[in-house]
Amino acid sequence: MTTIPINTRQDIDYGTPLPASTETVTLRVDGVEVTVPKGSSVMRAAATAGVMVPKLCATDSLKSFGSCRLCLVEIDGRKGYPASCTTPAEAGMQVRTQSKKLGDLRRGVMELYISDHPLDCLTCSANGDCELQDMAGAVGLREVRYGYEGENHLDATKDASNPYFEFDPAKCIVCQRCVRACEEVQGTFALTVDGRGFASKISPGQMEAFMESECVSCGACVQACPTATLIEKTVVDAGTPDYDVVTTCAYCGVGCSFKAEMKGREVVRMTPYKDGMANHGHSCVKGRFAWGYATHKDRITTPMIRKRITDPWTPVSWDEAIGYAASEFKRLQAQYGRGAVGAISSSRCTNEETYLMQKLVRAAFGNNNIDTCARVCHSPTGFGLKTTLGESAGTQNFDSVQHADVIVVIGANPTDGHPVFASAMKRRIREGAKLIVVDPRRTDIVRSPHVEASYHLQLRPGTNVAVLNALAHVIVTEGLSDDAFALARCEPASYAQWKDFVSRPENSPEALEAETWVPASVVRGAARLYATGGNAAIYYGLGVTEHSQGSTAVLGIANLAMATGNLGRPGVGVNPLRGQNNVQGSCDMGSFPHELPGYRHVLDDSVRALFEGRWKVSLEKEPGLRIPNMFDAALDGSFKGLYLEGEDIAQSDPDTTHVTAALEAMECIVVQDMFLNETAKFAHVFLPGSSFLEKNGTFTNAERRISRVRKVMEPLAGKEDWEVTVALATALGYPMHYHHPSEIMDEIASLTPTFTGVSYARIEELGSIQWPCNERAPDGTPVMHEHEFVRGKGKFVPTQYVPTTEKVNRKYPLILTTGRILSQYNVGAQTRRTANVEWHDADRLEIHPHDAEERGIHDGDQVTVSSRAGETSLRAHITDRVQPGIVYTTFHHPESGANVITTENSDWATNCPEYKVTAVQVTPALKGSEWQERFQSFTSEQLGLLERAVGVRSPKP
Ligand code: SF4
Ligand code: SF4
Ligand code: SF4
Ligand code: FES
Repeated sequence: MTTIPINTRQDIDYGTPLPASTETVTLRVDGVEVTVPKGSSVMRAAATAGVMVPKLCATDSLKSFGSCRLCLVEIDGRKGYPASCTTPAEAGMQVRTQSKKLGDLRRGVMELYISDHPLDCLTCSANGDCELQDMAGAVGLREVRYGYEGENHLDATKDASNPYFEFDPAKCIVCQRCVRACEEVQGTFALTVDGRGFASKISPGQMEAFMESECVSCGACVQACPTATLIEKTVVDAGTPDYDVVTTCAYCGVGCSFKAEMKGREVVRMTPYKDGMANHGHSCVKGRFAWGYATHKDRITTPMIRKRITDPWTPVSWDEAIGYAASEFKRLQAQYGRGAVGAISSSRCTNEETYLMQKLVRAAFGNNNIDTCARVCHSPTGFGLKTTLGESAGTQNFDSVQHADVIVVIGANPTDGHPVFASAMKRRIREGAKLIVVDPRRTDIVRSPHVEASYHLQLRPGTNVAVLNALAHVIVTEGLSDDAFALARCEPASYAQWKDFVSRPENSPEALEAETWVPASVVRGAARLYATGGNAAIYYGLGVTEHSQGSTAVLGIANLAMATGNLGRPGVGVNPLRGQNNVQGSCDMGSFPHELPGYRHVLDDSVRALFEGRWKVSLEKEPGLRIPNMFDAALDGSFKGLYLEGEDIAQSDPDTTHVTAALEAMECIVVQDMFLNETAKFAHVFLPGSSFLEKNGTFTNAERRISRVRKVMEPLAGKEDWEVTVALATALGYPMHYHHPSEIMDEIASLTPTFTGVSYARIEELGSIQWPCNERAPDGTPVMHEHEFVRGKGKFVPTQYVPTTEKVNRKYPLILTTGRILSQYNVGAQTRRTANVEWHDADRLEIHPHDAEERGIHDGDQVTVSSRAGETSLRAHITDRVQPGIVYTTFHHPESGANVITTENSDWATNCPEYKVTAVQVTPALKGSEWQERFQSFTSEQLGLLERAVGVRSPKP
């Protein structure tokens, strides 16, 4: 059993937020001199001086409010007793926080609160973790004179509708911290105060239950509540936590930092960490609440093997499973050649695990057949940004958005996909920044409380490049470009060539209107705003990359930013929003078949020599197979063995029928995962994986921020994932000798120029590090390309629009596009095993009322969706979020078969699949598709084979 690194840092609540001012004021609080930024409250100044003024309605994540009157102080030269939370600290002030009069006043306030509060402290779930209780003690309240028999709220009804927290209004002191958290931190405005004075009550929506309201279950109100009114159900069940460990969310690319709050070796709650640089103490429903999958009964904790996929599984020891996998891989290489095997890593893996996977492939398999799921999401980002700017990563930190005047969201749905960053973005928009959204669908960010896009370019899926060219056309032909920046910072010849290209009449918004469906006036307005509205930042997602011209669109985005001078300082930039927690890291760690860690080509002799020297092995020069090439080679009979860690290609990759045929054609598939996922149904060896709570390592988020993942419990199957890869490499005849992931990071740092300053010790010291971190940037790099681009001069690349070959016709008249939803995560393996299914228990097909009516489809009807690749069946949801001619679905549930219908089309440069454009027909259906029937029967068969494996905990269908 290893020691758990307990977080010893005490969270101080300064009462009001830290102002941004660089000016300071010096004052005295209880005789202690203290200097604070101008604009700080007296309460904050006191806390900085180590003096905690009693408070209830104030907390430092929210603006001061001044309602509870508990924080009164005396200030020399001022009359009365001002509230310290709403009084600005001024130079020379003399503040007293303690006096007999102040004590009497505070006790009087507390008496009123307590006289309308249940007297059940000893049995209350928040006992020992309640600010009301603490404050009663702090002000010395010993008795309540008013009696409890008068009018009160003690019999108010509890709302337990939310699966993760409950709301007991009997305990509410109406401090409104919850209401303000929902508005200021989350930006959802789901809570209101109903009534006035004594009758005032907190209510979700119009006196609705939480689950019926607009609430998105982010938990910010629960965290802000100073009483047990809003409290996590896990705390009610298990009691208040004893200690905490700081770690990183394993869901999306925002990379929120959390305190895993523990009782013994069990997680009681996940509390967003105030000092987390990506999230500043905020979270979404997934990170804060959806961690129960880690101990779900479906976890398989015993290694298993079988000769054929029709055989029952046999539980075996780790040694036997790893020995069997290694002997099979060796047999296949001896029989079919060195290139007959390969591996696919996942962006859910830590950096260290990913590094080891590619090292195993290159050093132990002796080929470059390593790829990652980033292939199917952000590989065009790597190509596009490297080509134009010289580095395959986003340019900014998240905080940069607070300096943006214009925010452009292209092909991304941040409120669902990157919720915590969306909250930061919405805050900035509420402060006055303008918003441009480029998306075929009316996503929530287009219009939400106090947020409205100035322009929504509701384009036809597949026409991103045409829209980007039209925007560029307006900027260049109307003379809105920043020529001084572009000529000084970029290659002049490429700039001239690009200007010439985009100025052509065929790239005008008017010429492209019929193709893109975006009115020319809207394009012109958006282009003018982007080019002239001040600091303009572009945030984009898979709606840009997952196209046949995904790489071209990324080039187009970088061109726009260079032409308008929107790079190299806070508030601007080109920012890919990464889908999974470690997409950035998995690319950085060399898990593409043509690149070693740090994006260095395998063809480069000096780079190979560097790794050969360190790894003591000779490396293959030829780039290996990409994921789609592996499938094709498997069907050709030349690719026979695959090692997958955390990646479920049978569900996540396009054209499922093709993928599963390739899996069936292979002789040895080794799956390392927490659950018997869809791919594992085709596997011959199952190696139990560990959740993020069971291992050490690092994740790198969308802003290049490397954060620690810390083990809070022992791996259920006895091994952390990196240990399994070490054992497999060793069994393959290439021994690896690591005792802790920190040693793997040391090796990465020693071999990767952008990581030379990274170590676990430095991460410990700084909290997290944004690469590049080296001699030139010892504390990391929040904003890239400040003085020059990584490649020296920026390179403009003309972006000829080439329509996709996936065309609608009479047989397939609609375009299907796909995306995700807030409560679920990717293939749903984790979130489907949590109460998040209460929000989304099945994927649905969004269809416009006009298209539905034409087909006789009603809301909730089962419909058949057929494409050139296949056919599946879903329930319809009729909505005008999508335009006529467009249908949309999520892909979180395997039985939906969303990828049965997506085609094999892919990006010309990187093979990233064209998930976002599939021509389909939709018709009413009475039952599931043939594919779904086969899926159900294969699933039952495989679960039956699992149940016959003695001693293995088996999932129920
Ligand atoms: S629910 Fe909690 S945070 Fe909200 S008003 Fe009541 S006591 Fe304050
Ligand atoms: S959980 Fe989040 S969205 Fe829901 S009411 Fe609380 S703060 Fe608002
Ligand atoms: S925003 Fe992303 S990283 Fe943050 S808590 Fe939610 S899922 Fe986790
Ligand atoms: S804490 Fe200042 S008025 Fe409530």
